[in-house]
Amino acid sequence: MRLPASLNVLLLGGGGREHAFAWKIAQSPRLGKLFIAPGNAGTASLGMNVDLNPTNFGSLKQFILTNNINLVVVGPEEPLVKGVWNFVHEDEEIHHVPVIGPSLEGARLEGSKDFAKTFMVRHNIPTASYRSFSKANIEEAYAFIDSLKAPYVLKADGLAAGKGVVILDSAEAAKAELNEMLGGKFGAAGNTVVIEEFLSGIECSVFVATDGKNYKVLPVAKDYKRIGEGDTGPNTGGMGAISPVPFADTAFMEKVRTTIIEPTIKGLADEKITYKGFIFIGLMNVGGNPYVIEYNVRMGDPETEAVMLRIESDIIDLFEGMAFGTLDKTELVVSPKTAATVVCVAAGYPSAYHKGDEITGLADINGSTVFHAGTVARGGKVYTNGGRVLAVTSLGESIEEAVSRSFDTIENIHYDGKYFRRDIGKDLM
Ligand code: AMP
Ligand code: GLY
Repeated sequence: MRLPASLNVLLLGGGGREHAFAWKIAQSPRLGKLFIAPGNAGTASLGMNVDLNPTNFGSLKQFILTNNINLVVVGPEEPLVKGVWNFVHEDEEIHHVPVIGPSLEGARLEGSKDFAKTFMVRHNIPTASYRSFSKANIEEAYAFIDSLKAPYVLKADGLAAGKGVVILDSAEAAKAELNEMLGGKFGAAGNTVVIEEFLSGIECSVFVATDGKNYKVLPVAKDYKRIGEGDTGPNTGGMGAISPVPFADTAFMEKVRTTIIEPTIKGLADEKITYKGFIFIGLMNVGGNPYVIEYNVRMGDPETEAVMLRIESDIIDLFEGMAFGTLDKTELVVSPKTAATVVCVAAGYPSAYHKGDEITGLADINGSTVFHAGTVARGGKVYTNGGRVLAVTSLGESIEEAVSRSFDTIENIHYDGKYFRRDIGKDLM
């Protein structure tokens, strides 16, 4: 089985990750029409933005039928965790349309931290030691906290919009946080809480494309999560990304392959879990050995923006290999250059921030690719429409060169309250 020679693609999502996907998909000679739901001001120049809620599966089906969609690519986790793959696969009228993403069962690797931990234990995949607790065994949780050394890592089991991981320095604070989580701070996502050993090291993001049997490792990236320079202040959706990551060298990646990637794919297959999508493995390098911090069942944002700039081969060919189990025959060509993404955010982010400020300077961009994250177009102008506004990405021969190109581009883009981190990549230089 193959995709048609010319095909119509529906991409779900509307952030920087989806603009980067759309940019790459639009370069394929195989593309017919590209639709992005809901998209943003950046994706509007590459395809047609459509007012479709990615978790409203009924309207998704109608859209697929009306527009002769041949492939659905899912950007964010929510539709996957809600079962979009199964919905399409089990519907007689649209089951011939491949969905790039895991099944409902596979999406539990991100949708339930407890499931992900038990999966890693079953398949002997290195991760922090842990236990899971609910209201019923809170006394045991207190005793477990007392048995650990600071700092304490608490994770709400379910999806909590990226806010469900809390790290605390004292046992008292950890117990108080546990009470709040079990008391509904994150709604039902916190009914179960994973408490785990703190791992110290440096993190990176490994992206794997799989058809359930074969796999391709995409460029490795590092993202910068905190709002402030020097990795200070509150967590954000991501303030920048660098790819490749110097410490993820051949020897380290060989360990990642043999101790993490291969056991993960084999584990999914052994458990009869259908997975034709991306696996994003958040890793901690602990003294040269990789440990899994978390799985995500989609690509990362802003890592995708950096990763897409380094992929030279056709992305539709990659999707085809993932969908039809032929990834072993798919060619993936990666540029040796370095990509640097610097995210420009709105003033106040990640707390309350302002929307609707006009963005200028986007017309004459040189030396960078500006992916839109939270933007909207109105009457020929572009306005801020989210906390993360733009993901300015550049290639270079070194980290220094790539980041300085992104900084130069940012100097010429203006909106009220523009903020970005000037230390992206510094720790890797
Ligand atoms: P997550 O929301 O799962 O991406 O987790 C947020 C961040 O918490 C991770 O990127 C890590 O920086 C940190 N983290 C999570 N688990 C651990 C752990 N076991 N040890 C140290 N840091 C951790
Ligand atoms: N950059 C981290 C994430 O996408 O979850």
